[in-house]
Amino acid sequence: MGSVEVSGFKNAALPIIYACVLVKDKIVLENMPNISDITCSFEILRGMGAKIRMLDKTTYEVDCTDVIPCSSEYDLVRRIRGSYYLLGAEFGRFGKSRVGLPGGCDFGVRPIDQHIKGFEAMGGIVNTEGGYVEISSEDGPKSASIFFDVSTVGATLNIMIAAATAEGTTYIDNAAKEPHIVDCANFLNSCGANITGAGSDVIKIRGVEELHGCTYAIIPDMIEAGSFMVAAAATAGSVRINNVIPKHLESITAKLIEVGADVEEFDDAVHVTGCAKMRKTSVKTLPYPGFPTDMHPQMTAMLCRAEGVSYINESIYDNRFRYVEELNRMGAQIKVEGRIVYIEGPCQLSAAPVIATDLRGGIAVMIAALMCEGQTEISEINLIERGYDDICGKLRGLGADIQKISVPDPVGVKKAN
Ligand code: EPU
Repeated sequence: MGSVEVSGFKNAALPIIYACVLVKDKIVLENMPNISDITCSFEILRGMGAKIRMLDKTTYEVDCTDVIPCSSEYDLVRRIRGSYYLLGAEFGRFGKSRVGLPGGCDFGVRPIDQHIKGFEAMGGIVNTEGGYVEISSEDGPKSASIFFDVSTVGATLNIMIAAATAEGTTYIDNAAKEPHIVDCANFLNSCGANITGAGSDVIKIRGVEELHGCTYAIIPDMIEAGSFMVAAAATAGSVRINNVIPKHLESITAKLIEVGADVEEFDDAVHVTGCAKMRKTSVKTLPYPGFPTDMHPQMTAMLCRAEGVSYINESIYDNRFRYVEELNRMGAQIKVEGRIVYIEGPCQLSAAPVIATDLRGGIAVMIAALMCEGQTEISEINLIERGYDDICGKLRGLGADIQKISVPDPVGVKKAN
């Protein structure tokens, strides 16, 4: 029995950091995770003229008053996906933007056509040439009614950010509903924006003239929380996971109960107790409130323990399966057909040298390593540290025997503090 504290949500903190570019004032961001995607984002903004101070371990003051548009460093921007929120923020404040094409985990094709469609609807002329996305406009962003063809977190946030200070009222239809959409809207509203409907299919953004500073606390990371929940069930452990919003975890909780684990919910915590024999299940990843794609690899690792054939249908990305080869090196019986992962269990995993193929694939092999006897060596852990705050320290606190031997410079930048 142990307990662990969940950090702030990477995927909420990223759009909020870039949305600070809209604001000519000081902003204090609390409950920030200490992860390399955030360090890199601060480095990008610093390079553009922002003043960023670390007030304590999880609190930063951000002042983007003097930011120079179209000046972000290509080599930094391409390292992470969240940097594309700079497009909406620069377009919103300056009526123009030039940002390198974003990077992020390799899941096959990750188009940005819906972002572009939204910016164009708002009067932007968009060019993607020479590795950059460039937006220009005659008189700045204009309000628009936009219908997204797919549920997209990134494009919903980018248009919401761009529209916060645009003239008129913008409607986003078929908007993504993830908790980080609501968090970013709440942040912008705390700065004086007028956004309603975030978390539903239609978001209405009434543009305001100017935003002001505020103090804002980022929501807890539902994927970090979910990863600890799954790790507890996978190892038949008993773990209390603190600083969570249980509602955000419902799809994960439901699956854990289905396989035989016990999940007790508190106001801001969940307690997961694993079971000796795990039942098989099937999972389909879906936009929120469905089961998150960012929890798929962790579920695969855990289901190696379940009796019978479980399967996971990945409906968001066409190629989020590179981690499978690593789990099979550890003795798992997993095959992929199309977008479906079949996991044959129960199977006793065994230690092997493996790599973190991407952020969530990396945490999946870490969970697998906790499940098996012997010593597992995981390389490329810089990919895990993009999104998990002090993962080794937190797992050690839960009784894991885990050491960080060395880690490549995560994003090639100095620490943002
Ligand atoms: N899509 C398009 N066109 C677009 C945008 C998206 O076809 O213009 C498609 C994508 O190819 C994908 C689907 O729509 O099939 C969903 O993409 P979405 O835009 O929602 O994803 P994202 O903004 O690129 C964010 C997170 C991901 C997370 C997804 C889905 C950040 C920085 N990234 O990515 O997080 O998987 O939403 O929830 O917030 C992670 O944290 O490990 C991670 C990969």
